Amino acid sequence: MEKHIVLLPGDGIGPEVTKAAKNVLQSVADRFQHTFTFETHDIGGVAIDNHETPLPEDTVEAARKADAIFLGAVGGPKWDQLPGHMRPEKGLLGIRKQLGLFANLRPVKAFPQLLHASPLKQEVVAASDLLIVRELTGGLYFGEPRERRNNGNAVVDTLAYERREIERIVEQAFQSAQVRRKHLTSVDKANVLESSRMWREVVEEKKAQYPDVKVEHMLVDAAAMKLVTHPAYFDVIVTENMFGDILSDEASVLTGSLGMLPSASLNETGVGLYEPVHGSAPDIAGENKANPLASILSVAMMLKHSFGMEEEAEQVEAAVQEVLNEGYHTADIDLVGGTVVSGSELARRVVDQITTSDTTE
Ligand code: NAD
Ligand code: IPM
Ligand code: MN
Repeated sequence: MEKHIVLLPGDGIGPEVTKAAKNVLQSVADRFQHTFTFETHDIGGVAIDNHETPLPEDTVEAARKADAIFLGAVGGPKWDQLPGHMRPEKGLLGIRKQLGLFANLRPVKAFPQLLHASPLKQEVVAASDLLIVRELTGGLYFGEPRERRNNGNAVVDTLAYERREIERIVEQAFQSAQVRRKHLTSVDKANVLESSRMWREVVEEKKAQYPDVKVEHMLVDAAAMKLVTHPAYFDVIVTENMFGDILSDEASVLTGSLGMLPSASLNETGVGLYEPVHGSAPDIAGENKANPLASILSVAMMLKHSFGMEEEAEQVEAAVQEVLNEGYHTADIDLVGGTVVSGSELARRVVDQITTSDTTE
């Protein structure tokens, strides 16, 4: 198959992890006789520096034409003092909104090799395997008005949702649950927020169409607690934009590092943007320490969701498993034993596995 992939490396460790993602994609193409072509564009801080905007029109146009998009990370201290509409993060929010990428899938799986890398007890983390379905283009991130008032002494952000925006993410979550363990937890703050009360209404309306899925509602504060006391309880969590953002970083501790969590952001026509859940990690940028596995696992999601390449995706995941089995990891994974290697070396080891491993087919 021929596929055209737009790479948006961004800032900080973004370019390092994007290189790992590209190398893995290339090794999949070589191994499975596909042709992947790549085109790189600016987004975030680097785009502000080069084009005076965090989201150049060129970048959006290229992304619209791509078969899939990979994004590293945006942001950093260099741009932190800029006004809201000129921040690097605005580029990321802009591309999500302009491409209609409302469904953000964030799988969180504790690898058996890394159970002891989590600060939680091994017996708590064991068997946790959940999917956070985060609404990505609504809520507090996009609601208007958002402004300072009263000479800067008052401020307003707006949490707004249209019913249809909630319906489509809830439908996505039910469908995800149907191909997993058929247990959906809808997370909200319905004891306080009107938006959450409508969210509950929609979940209640939709559940008749998915009788095979067991659905429940949970308040976000309780869910935050249960995520670290009984993570294996969860299968699919569906929640609004900001709750999903916070809960996914919290859930990353199950895996031992934020550097392990991949994500896919999908729109109604199936176009996908794939990115690690973590940010630009300015504290380690340029040191070749960034864990590339979140990005490599995001590539596996791209192969599966955007290209329908199940076997290729499994090969990438198996290669990651094998490298972990051999005890290799980056410094963010706090293991007793094993071997700490650089980000590029870890990625090279994954590529070597893909290139050389035997398959029975
Ligand atoms: P961060 O995710 O960048 O880093 C949090 C901590 O995790 C840091 O200690 C970092 O070193 C570590 N970490 C993150 N990814 C890692 C990896 N792959 N390997 C090893 N360690 C890793 O969050 P932050 O520090 O709060 O934010 C830094 C910047 O990133 C901010 O400008 C923020 O807006 C931006 N950000 C961007 C995205 C994105 O582009 N999707 C996501 C989150 C944050
Ligand atoms: C993420 C990030 C972004 C978000 C920021 C950088 C806008 O934290 O992708 O999780 O909050 O969505
Ligand atoms: Mn986040």
